[in-house]
Amino acid sequence: MSTAASTQRARVDQFFTAAEARFDRWRRLLDVARAWEADKSSDSTLLSAFFFELRQWEDFFAYPGPALLRNLEERIASRDAAGVARFVQVINSALLTHSYRTNAADWEGEEQSPKLGDRLPGINAAVVHRPYFEVLVVTPARQSAWPEMAEELRKLRRPPDKFIYELVFVGSVEDAVLASLLNGNLETVVISDGVPFASSHNAPVLREFLAANLAASAASITSGQQSLELASALKQIRPELDIFLLSSRDVEKIAADPTTAECVRRVFYQVEEPLELHLSIMDAIADRFETPYFDNLQKYAQRPMGTFHALPVARGKSIFKSNWIRDMGEFYGMNLFLAESSATTGGLDSLLEPTGNIKVAQDKAARAFGADHVFFVTNGTSTSNKMVEQALLAPGDIMLVDRNCHKSHHYGAVLSGALPLYVEAYPLTQFSMYGAVPLRSIKKALLDLKAEGKLDRARLLVLTNCTFDGHIYNVERVMEECLAIKPDLIFLWDEAWFGFARWSPFYRRRTAMGAAAILERKFKDSAYRAAYAEQTKKLGADLDPANPQVLESRLLADPDRVHLRVYQTNSTHKSMSCLRQGSMVLVKDQDYHTVEEQFHEAVFTHASTSPNLQIIASLDVARRQMELEGYELVNRAIQLALDVRREVNSHRLISKYFRVLGADQMIPTEFRSSGFVDYLEPGMNWAAAVKSLREDEFALDVTRLTLVCGTAGFDGTQFKNMLAAEYDIQLNKTSRNSVLLQTNINNTRSDIAHLIKVLVEISQGIEKKLQRGGVEVQQAFAARVKSLMEDVPDLPNFSYFQKSLREDPSSATSEGDMRSAFFGAYREEQCEHLKLSSPEIDRRLKEGPELVSANFVIPYPPGFPIMVPGQVINRETIDFMRKLDVKEIHGYAAALGLKLLKPSYLEAASTRSHGAPEKQKRAARRSAA
Ligand SMILES: Cc1ncc(COP(=O)(O)O)c(C=O)c1O
Repeated sequence: MSTAASTQRARVDQFFTAAEARFDRWRRLLDVARAWEADKSSDSTLLSAFFFELRQWEDFFAYPGPALLRNLEERIASRDAAGVARFVQVINSALLTHSYRTNAADWEGEEQSPKLGDRLPGINAAVVHRPYFEVLVVTPARQSAWPEMAEELRKLRRPPDKFIYELVFVGSVEDAVLASLLNGNLETVVISDGVPFASSHNAPVLREFLAANLAASAASITSGQQSLELASALKQIRPELDIFLLSSRDVEKIAADPTTAECVRRVFYQVEEPLELHLSIMDAIADRFETPYFDNLQKYAQRPMGTFHALPVARGKSIFKSNWIRDMGEFYGMNLFLAESSATTGGLDSLLEPTGNIKVAQDKAARAFGADHVFFVTNGTSTSNKMVEQALLAPGDIMLVDRNCHKSHHYGAVLSGALPLYVEAYPLTQFSMYGAVPLRSIKKALLDLKAEGKLDRARLLVLTNCTFDGHIYNVERVMEECLAIKPDLIFLWDEAWFGFARWSPFYRRRTAMGAAAILERKFKDSAYRAAYAEQTKKLGADLDPANPQVLESRLLADPDRVHLRVYQTNSTHKSMSCLRQGSMVLVKDQDYHTVEEQFHEAVFTHASTSPNLQIIASLDVARRQMELEGYELVNRAIQLALDVRREVNSHRLISKYFRVLGADQMIPTEFRSSGFVDYLEPGMNWAAAVKSLREDEFALDVTRLTLVCGTAGFDGTQFKNMLAAEYDIQLNKTSRNSVLLQTNINNTRSDIAHLIKVLVEISQGIEKKLQRGGVEVQQAFAARVKSLMEDVPDLPNFSYFQKSLREDPSSATSEGDMRSAFFGAYREEQCEHLKLSSPEIDRRLKEGPELVSANFVIPYPPGFPIMVPGQVINRETIDFMRKLDVKEIHGYAAALGLKLLKPSYLEAASTRSHGAPEKQKRAARRSAA
């Protein structure tokens, strides 16, 4: 690695590498120890330096712990090179394999491989797996007393304990913050009174790390009731942690504090009841571990059920006894069929009307995601989105929506009869993709609606966060400024890809639920109130859409008038350990009671009456996993993405032909006001990254990696197919000249190594081809690259709905009645087809009548509808279609041509609609306004 790269590594990766960097440090120590062993005459300075560097990070982990580290230090001092190498080897492999979680010998530093039968699940059924975790004890007690305190707590372990824990002691507030950031094994924190603030660790790297992270999450710690403040700060970093307070002061008073209710699981009067503390720790973990639906399903599967309902695969008899389909049973295993049922009784609940364990499982998911309510959905976020839209929108309501959003939202508009008002994302033309919708465009649309007296009908704003390509909104700011214009606007954040972000303290503030929590606090804050009062002096309480300052100012919402109404949908299956189609709807809506009935109707409309039980169970289990190990898993996924970015962009050969786009290429400078360039840009550190995530209009999700392959002469589809066919690599989506890779909680460093190796091989192949092929091949390659990278079609914006579909064709806002156009196309006689290459198209573009799309036309890639029903097709759209070289275009059959609504039908519709009394009334109301 170059020096520049290694400095970046030390700086930028400090947070996400917490786990991986730790492994690296131990591996480096092992290398040095082995070298020392090989040449015992050499001095141990290098080894001591490595050990010293590593030592300061190790205080935050239970294993190897102070005793083993002391032992190691003594061996180094006594120049026991062989002993040091062996010892480091044991620790190293215990950390890598996590064997210390179950293997007592690791804690003695012994080289003793566990018996196979003790390890592999199922081989020795007598060994029950007891999940391991660590408890952080934040105490003012002398460091010398810590081992004894640990021993006292260890004595409380009992055979019936379902989990096992070890303790980590720290003696300051800062160290507690560091430990919670660094140690993914921590699940519980026990905080005593009177802990000093400052860390005793003075290593510059730790200091910098702490400064960046404290600024982000724990800046509020002052003094006063410090243990409560610490609890609150830790909850902001990792909301899932169970926190217990030990106090020798007025425990009753502490217990009565509202912060205690929010952040603390239980308050104890010092350690007067250590067993109670132990049991409470176990109980709290059990609460997260419990998966009510999955647990019940397992029990159900073990019962000798006779089934007389309509699901022959239940119990698997028709499969395992079959002459012909037994292999299906063997492939999936018996449990799948034992756990199949169409019953909603007998311990199984009903997804459509949950009152039992599904309800409890949903409530636990709500807790985990920071929502008030959660709905489990077994037909993907495609269905979740339609449910939310049907529940919240009535015909004639206006729905502001990113035109580049998933197709389910467009269909949601058709089904609900709401009028979509499309807001446009900024284009990234060179890569044939869109970014995200600038807040200015959204505000402008709302202000235009206000100017036209239609703001009351604007009910919902739908945005994709993060976008397919990784653009993350400043969710807090979008909601705050929109609420300033319309205090009861409802938000639907489609976080299909971003569910995992809840478990990253850096991303959380940019999720729907994270931002809603911030706004909830903000709106109660007196300083915010005062700032809002200032704003009213300048801009008035009722914002005037004609005042240009309103659009240009950073608006605050009226805390007395806002109704915080936030919905999120996420494809749990896309980013967590959930079976395909598992999805959730999260609700944080203070007025939910007003729409609850509609919500249930929407569930009844869209949910299957035969939901898949395994999907429901996996939603439950995915929640368990994220609440217990999501923090570490997500950090690792982010870390791996940074590794890919760094390796690809700095590799001598790969970077000649490929590159992963950084934030600077995906997000124009104007939306990065903090000055942030990219995570791997020299000079950027975590303080800059944290600042960017707080302030900038858009940020980039590093786990979504746009790999440019046009520069290697491949179009996206070609490259995707090649990776799948020749290298067993599957990836996400493609564009004309790029492919989208992503890392998730399932990836390992081996996956990354495989990918990098493949890219090296492909690059070598190109090199060879170019060297051997001579000038001709080189010219052909250059021409291909140019065509892919430069000859890119402009991305067409949404034009407008045909006038018969608009209440007032002269309106400045572009919402239209897409639903009528959609159903208009159901009658063949109302439609016509025109071939894309036909000169008639060009004639009609010039002379009319307008070409009006009868349906959605969605090319993959890029995957957004370039035509929606009722949209007037303009020259740009035709040019784009003609240049498009993809094969999969939903809604378009090349043999038939474009499906259009006939001008005669639209003419008749126009007469009907503009004569409609309701619309006349609305128009009259508007002109009166
Ligand atoms: C932004 C967005 N929303 C919703 C969906 C639909 O999710 P699902 O596949 O879970 O139905 C997708 C699918 O790719 C998507 O990209």
